[in-house]
Amino acid sequence: MTTTVQSELIAAIRNIPDYPKPGVMFRDITTLLGNPRAFRRAIDELVHPYAGTKIDKIAGIEARGFILGGAIAHQLSSGFVPIRKKGKLPHDTVRIAYSLEYGVDEMEMHKDALKPGEKVILVDDLIATGGTAEAAVKLLKQMGADIVAACFVIDLPELGGRKKLEALGVNVRTLIEFE
Ligand code: PRP
Ligand code: ADE
Repeated sequence: MTTTVQSELIAAIRNIPDYPKPGVMFRDITTLLGNPRAFRRAIDELVHPYAGTKIDKIAGIEARGFILGGAIAHQLSSGFVPIRKKGKLPHDTVRIAYSLEYGVDEMEMHKDALKPGEKVILVDDLIATGGTAEAAVKLLKQMGADIVAACFVIDLPELGGRKKLEALGVNVRTLIEFE
């Protein structure tokens, strides 16, 4: 069943066929971010299960996870930890390689960004194959984080990302789905 809030979020997302390559329907959240009501709704919906819970850090995945993660960190009075593409962070890092549709990339976070046992929520805009989020989960686990949940506005269930994270024991929260 699609709720009113879900319908509002779906309507706020722009769909761009054949971007970045033929056959892909790109789910563009810039229109949601530019819509004050939809942006607030998305943040409120993502955080409400965790209201009143002490969350030490929000870990946001570059680039769109930074925007959502910053707003969520503010709402939950948590710190924010950026997980970035390699070579962007200035201090000592932990790094992990991960598979993309073509080839591999690497992501990293600062070694001192988290203390073992800290409660962390991972945030990104969208989960597709789950390759990006899986690598982020592995990095966080390597740092000894207690991963409370991984949150995304959009799930593309046919691509299996949610199941991949759940198989790692991660509690996944998503707001809307597209085929
Ligand atoms: C998008 C999205 C997720 C990732 C999901 O980022 O923001 O991070 O793809 O795909 P996956 O579940 O198949 O790994 P993208 O790689 O386009 O990077 P960007 O945010 O820096 O543009
Ligand atoms: N990342 C992976 N697949 C995507 C899609 N269809 N739209 C937006 N970001 C994506």
